[in-house]
This record gives sequence, structure tokens and C-alpha cells, in this order.
Amino acid sequence: MRVKKVQLTNFRNHTDSSLEFTGGINFITGANAQGKTSILEALSYVCLTKSFLQQSDTTVPRFGAAQFAVDAQMETDKNVVNRVKVAYDAQAGKSYFLDSNEVKKSADVIGMFPIVVLSPGDFALTGGAPSERRKFADIVLSQVWRSYLEELTEYRRALKQRNRILLDGKLNGPLDADMLAAWTDALVAHGTKVMSRRRRFVDEFQDTFAASYASLVEAGETPALRYEPSFAVDADVAECFRKSLRELARAERARGATLAGPHRDDIDFMLNGMPIREFASQGQHKTFLVALKIAEFHYIKAMLGETPAMLLDDVLTELDYTRASRVIRTVAGLGQTFVTATDMMNFDEKMVGMRDAKFHFVREGSVVYENA
Ligand SMILES: Nc1ncnc2c1ncn2[C@@H]1O[C@H](COP(=O)(O)OP(=O)(O)O)[C@@H](O)[C@H]1O
Ligand SMILES: [Mg+2]
Repeated sequence: MRVKKVQLTNFRNHTDSSLEFTGGINFITGANAQGKTSILEALSYVCLTKSFLQQSDTTVPRFGAAQFAVDAQMETDKNVVNRVKVAYDAQAGKSYFLDSNEVKKSADVIGMFPIVVLSPGDFALTGGAPSERRKFADIVLSQVWRSYLEELTEYRRALKQRNRILLDGKLNGPLDADMLAAWTDALVAHGTKVMSRRRRFVDEFQDTFAASYASLVEAGETPALRYEPSFAVDADVAECFRKSLRELARAERARGATLAGPHRDDIDFMLNGMPIREFASQGQHKTFLVALKIAEFHYIKAMLGETPAMLLDDVLTELDYTRASRVIRTVAGLGQTFVTATDMMNFDEKMVGMRDAKFHFVREGSVVYENA
């Protein structure tokens, strides 16, 4: 898939910006705080229905405005052209339109226009909390399996209800045991499905990931991923889940919260058999992350049969020149690519190679073209 053009209306500091993209590599350049990341964020709205930054829709309308809109034209690998529009209104909320038809469920559209995003926030993926790695798996799986997002949504609903009952029991007593049992059933039913998908994902993803990693480093480093559920699991996951909740019943009542389940999963990132979080160098962290993203690209492409676009936000600033040019060369060879950067000097012939490249210069929420 590729994004052919996009228009941002009252989107962050963009009043009305229109961009036409090449199917090759798009460099979005400009000084700090001019509106580069906002353009990638707008692409995330049309492709994933929401921001890749963990920020609420309410922060997006341009200061003083109550609405924003992103209007894009996309072309799939099979050359089907779609028009996608995301409109937000402070009162009415967010609406998503595909060729003028409103799409009510985000699961209906996520995966049609797949993207892989690498932004500074992702550097928490290898070193940060387990929630970062769960989010990584969830974003990939939601794009690949429509049912995954539905199961995850149902799981979160059950979790919220169950936590509410536990907390209510703790604060106000007595615990509503019937309601708790009902939500425990829902929690286990949906949670088991979420877990089996995540386990399969980690298994299937391994080889692609190892190959991506090997393409970025000299030989001698063996990376691995390991799925770490919050409780010991054998063949019958649902029964193990129930057993774990039974064992934790007293602690859950004391804490007023659900203490086992996929909301507490982790995925261990290993290098040469050691957890990367504790032992890897900064450079290894970064290479690991880029390899994850390249593997994500290949995984999504293989599963969906649709080529994702790559969105790289400020990656050049995070990497030294040698690493950055290797990353750009590798990534730009995959499909349509968007790269933001502050420094024009960072780009040269070697980095871009023979790829079809286009420069979009951003200044104070407007896009300027040299030859315009
Ligand atoms: N809702 C908003 N309305 C107006 N400006 C905003 C809004 N949200 C963020 N900004 C501002 O928009 C500017 C551009 O942000 P960003 O796209 O992140 O810049 P860049 O990536 O070029 O550094 C920043 O100055 C930011 O503070
Ligand atoms: Mg930025």
C-alpha cells in the first residue's frame, strides 16, 4: 500500500497542509517544532484510526479550533485507490470514512492500510516496561488479525469490570461474588484467546526477526524473543488461568485489582541468551529495535499480503551516521517510506541510493516545495 496524498486541516499546528507523496522515500524536513511529526501522526490516523503517539484525540485540533480532519488517498498493492477521511469534532467525537462510507468499528479498517512506525518513543521498547512490549505485539497483531483486536477489546472490558468489582468490594464491601464469577469467566475466555495469539506471534516472528537482525550486524550476535505470561502455562491455558486466579484470590481482594492475565504479560528480548534490558549496550538496543521494526514489516506483509508503509520519526537523530545510513538504505528498499529529520545535511546520495526520493519542507505548520 502507499499513501498518494494527504490533507491536514486544523491538525496540530497545520491549518491547511496538502502533501503529495512518492511511492519511494519521502523526506520530511524542517527545524524543530515546525510540524514534521504531526504529518506522520496524521498518516497514523488514516491508517490505524489513531495517533501513534500515546495522546488523546482531544489534543490534536489546532489551538482554538474544535475540529480537525485528515483526508488521504491511498493505493493498495492491487492498485485499488481508496479515499480515507478522519474527522474529529470536540462534541461529536471521531468519525472514519472509507470512500465516503462511515466505518463504525476500527477493526473493520485496521490492516487495510498497514504501517510500521519507528519513533523516539519506541526506544522504550527494548529498555522500558512490559507494557511497551505488549503494545508492540498488540499493534502488529491488530493489523494482522481482525479478531485479535476484538478479543483484546472484550478482554479489556472484562478486566475493567472485574477490577471495578474487586475495588468496590475492597472499599465498600461485601464483594459481589456472583458478578465477580461472571466477569472471571469472560476474562478467562477472552484472555486465553489473546494469550494464544501472542504466543503464536512470538513463535512465528522469531525467524523473521533473527534474519532482520542479522542483516544489520556483523555475525556473532544471536537475538531471541520469549513469551512470558503472568502465570505458568501448560496445554490447558484456560485452566491454568483459573488456577492462578484462585491462588491470587486473597491478594486480589486486598489489592482491589486483577493480578493475573495478559494485561501482565511480557515478551523477553534476549541477545546471546541474556535479557537485553539488563545487559545490552545502547547500540545493541537500537539495532534490536530497528530489527524488530523491519521484522514487523515482513511479518505484516506476509500475513496480510499488503506492503506496509514505513514511518521513521526522528530516527536519524537517534542514530550515528553509519547506523542511520544503513537503516535508511535497508528500510527504503522495503516499500514507501516517510522519514522526518531536522538536518538536511544528513541526507546524501549514498543514503538515498537509487530510490525515488521526494523532499517535503515544513515551516510553521505549512509545507513548502522548492520548485513550487
Ligand atoms: N493542537 C495543537 N495546536 C497547535 N499547535 C500544536 C498542537 N499540538 C502541538 N502543537 C505544536 O505544533 C508544533 C509542531 O509539532 P511537531 O509536529 O511535533 O513538530 P516537529 O516534529 O517538526 O518538531 C509544536 O510546536 C507543537 O507544540
Ligand atoms: Mg518531531
